[in-house]
Amino acid sequence: MGMIVFSSREYDRDAFTAANAAFGHALQFQESHLDAQTAILAHGCAVVCPFVNDVVDEAVLVALRDGGTQLVALRSAGFNHVDLAAAARLGIGVVRVPAYSPHAVAEHAVGMILTLNRKLHRASARTRDGDFSLNGLLGFDLHGKTVGIIGTGIIGRVFGGIMAGFGMTLLAHDPGTPADDLIALGARYVSLDALLAQSDIVSLHCPLLHSTYHLIDTAALARMKRGAMLINTGRGGLVDSRALIGVLKSGQLGHLGLDVYEEEGGLFFEDHSNALLQDDVLSRLLSFPNVIVTSHQAFFTREALMQIADTTLGNVKAWFDGSPRNQVLS
Ligand code: NAI
Repeated sequence: MGMIVFSSREYDRDAFTAANAAFGHALQFQESHLDAQTAILAHGCAVVCPFVNDVVDEAVLVALRDGGTQLVALRSAGFNHVDLAAAARLGIGVVRVPAYSPHAVAEHAVGMILTLNRKLHRASARTRDGDFSLNGLLGFDLHGKTVGIIGTGIIGRVFGGIMAGFGMTLLAHDPGTPADDLIALGARYVSLDALLAQSDIVSLHCPLLHSTYHLIDTAALARMKRGAMLINTGRGGLVDSRALIGVLKSGQLGHLGLDVYEEEGGLFFEDHSNALLQDDVLSRLLSFPNVIVTSHQAFFTREALMQIADTTLGNVKAWFDGSPRNQVLS
């Protein structure tokens, strides 16, 4: 099956090539993003495999359909970047990788918490510079504090399990069915307002939907405990990034860890170190010592990459075998 992998890097090529030994699809790797200009590169490919910041809107889908594409095989869990209604109208299927090492993302969120709390980013820079002082590096025990988990799906539950291991009290908010395994760990499901008001750390693990866009806005930030920590490994649009600057300056928000950013498209996954950063909000956020930003790397473990490749290629096979799986419907 002819399949083009957009926004691919060496690590994608390695994982997909290894996993493809079991499938034998005809893979093409393309470094370019998928958008209205580059859709032509997919001409003749039955399957297009975009990444999270590729554009899969109606115009792109029309161009893909005209070039013979029948299936968009997302190599991500999130599908907020796809116009599903347009895909359905055009008769293009959409499949995704609903679950791949939730541990990768959950562990990254925990890494951000430990880094921010114990100021490891600053400590490491200091000792490399011969500065062995501790001033300004004071942290707090996680044990006995409260962590609020927004979204207790696959990743939120793994995250909750790890935080319970630190001896933290778990609060959860999710409009779906409560997770029995979290409840067994003592988690209490509460309203969003109660979670924000009572948590020392708030971690976002829900998808970006119309209903969750800017879930954390000025009002929500004001409801948080003063000096609390916010971690976002979900999607950038969950947080109103402009609203973060004021609360960081005032001390209302004590620590911020972002693995995703609402304007990350065209920036994350690329080396821009020789260019001037044009995004003033991100520039300001990066200037705070109590903020760390990683460029959408929470998924980035060997295990996750192999599972993503294997599931994506399996989804393609299942689709053309007439037994679709992991379909995303509008
Ligand atoms: P999932 O679908 O298993 O769980 C999402 C949970 O969020 C569900 O339980 C759902 O009911 C809940 N939810 C929906 N609306 C909500 C709301 N308004 N408030 C609170 N909870 C709400 O998804 P999974 O696999 O746990 O992934 C979560 C998100 O993590 C993905 O949607 C994706 O955006 C993000 N992600 C980020 C990665 C990264 O590298 N930074 C990698 C993989 C996923």
